[in-house]
Amino acid sequence: MDTALSYTEQHFDQFVDELKDFLRIPSVSTDPNHAGDVREAAGWLADHMRALGVSKVDIMETAGHPIVYGEHIVSPDAPTILVYGHYDVQPPDPLDLWKTDPFDPQVRDGNLYARGACDDKGQLFMHVKAAESYFKTEGAPPLNVKWIFEGEEEIGSKHLPQFLEEHKDLLAADVALVSDTALFGNGVPSITYGLRGLAYVEVTLEGPSIDLHSGVYGGAVENPINALATMIGNLHDDQHRVTVEGFYDNVIDLTPEERETFASLPFDGEAWVQEVGASKSKTEAGYSPLEGTTARPTLDCNGIWGGFTGAGAKTVLPSKASAKISCRLVPGQTPAEITDKLEAHFRKHTPETMKLTFTDLHGGHGALVPTDSPAMKAASEAMEGVYNETPYMVRCGGSIPIVADFKRILDQDTVLMGFGLDSDAIHSPNEKFGLDRFRAGIDSIIRFMAIYGRSN
Ligand code: BES
Ligand code: MN
Ligand code: MN
Repeated sequence: MDTALSYTEQHFDQFVDELKDFLRIPSVSTDPNHAGDVREAAGWLADHMRALGVSKVDIMETAGHPIVYGEHIVSPDAPTILVYGHYDVQPPDPLDLWKTDPFDPQVRDGNLYARGACDDKGQLFMHVKAAESYFKTEGAPPLNVKWIFEGEEEIGSKHLPQFLEEHKDLLAADVALVSDTALFGNGVPSITYGLRGLAYVEVTLEGPSIDLHSGVYGGAVENPINALATMIGNLHDDQHRVTVEGFYDNVIDLTPEERETFASLPFDGEAWVQEVGASKSKTEAGYSPLEGTTARPTLDCNGIWGGFTGAGAKTVLPSKASAKISCRLVPGQTPAEITDKLEAHFRKHTPETMKLTFTDLHGGHGALVPTDSPAMKAASEAMEGVYNETPYMVRCGGSIPIVADFKRILDQDTVLMGFGLDSDAIHSPNEKFGLDRFRAGIDSIIRFMAIYGRSN
């Protein structure tokens, strides 16, 4: 382990240069115009892994973007880990808000700026570099490693569950290891044991069959924007609880122990509000902002449109209004259940003057993983070796739906050892990844491999 750690120390600048090459490939999975770039990123990654000495590396086709699979088996008696990451990225829009080109990575103040720097190319690359550090010093990692890197995470991992079903033996491992979450704070080590799920829908209300003159007809024809706004406004009560019938039925609430732990975490509510740029936080009654953002279910309108939105004024009574609405789910809730409940709610409250169209866009399950497994203990010890402080066990509010599938399909728990920060602006302009965290991540993974490799 020590020689691998010093290899990373000596080659760190080179690692950063290689990561920049990887980040230059605009692997935007949602945009069909970038399908070739997504494939190029897969090829680049596979070639890179082959060059390190990974004994088996394949680009495996799916009905969508390909999966990069690598495997290095050192001994049938050693533990096996399945490392997961995603090499696809979010679109860089809005482009004019980037200080430098999203696909021309630049280091400023110790941070590497580029789309995908943190989510997730930079973080998956830590795993590749940790392995390299072993290959180049000790000959191989001290345990069996399988790597699965997908190109469709940002569009809902559409083809990955089926891939897991079809390759159960290939992917068999003792535990899955994922770096695609955030640290509790800068310099504050943490391991994530909970993720939220997602239910994403679109609704349209249609009133009159064409846009009407609001002077000629206004007063006797109901306006779909007004009606939709009322329905959306009523989705929360005065306690900021979601009013959809049965929404909380299956929620696994925080245990009293968890709430105690949450309350003891080094969370500065005021600094957080500042960072967000809000004037005040707003939570479901009875819960703290930290609980609200990571362990409670939410409903948010993500976009709303209809009528006239151009410059100037146009007196129109529109024919239609639409909204995109998503719910973050917590363990216990399922996307299908919540989507059905949302639909029932919207059908029930649609005024008789309106026609409702309800579309399920996508969803994913949340996850809770045991905090006391041998792999979690190894991860904790590994991070403690780097940070000289025992990592906190935390929950993250984002979603990585495949984590639930690792359990359901492969019977694997996942260790979520991520090194992002909430302030890394993932999915936003000027996404970044601190080079200190890139380094701490590689070191933590090297240590994890050594510790978990001995655990059998
Ligand atoms: N890496 C993120 C998820 C994440 C972000 C976890 C922050 C913890 C903290 C992932 O790439 C992502 O963006 N997931 C999407 C869901 C997906 C189904 C599109 C999300 O959370 O919106
Ligand atoms: Mn991600
Ligand atoms: Mn993402």
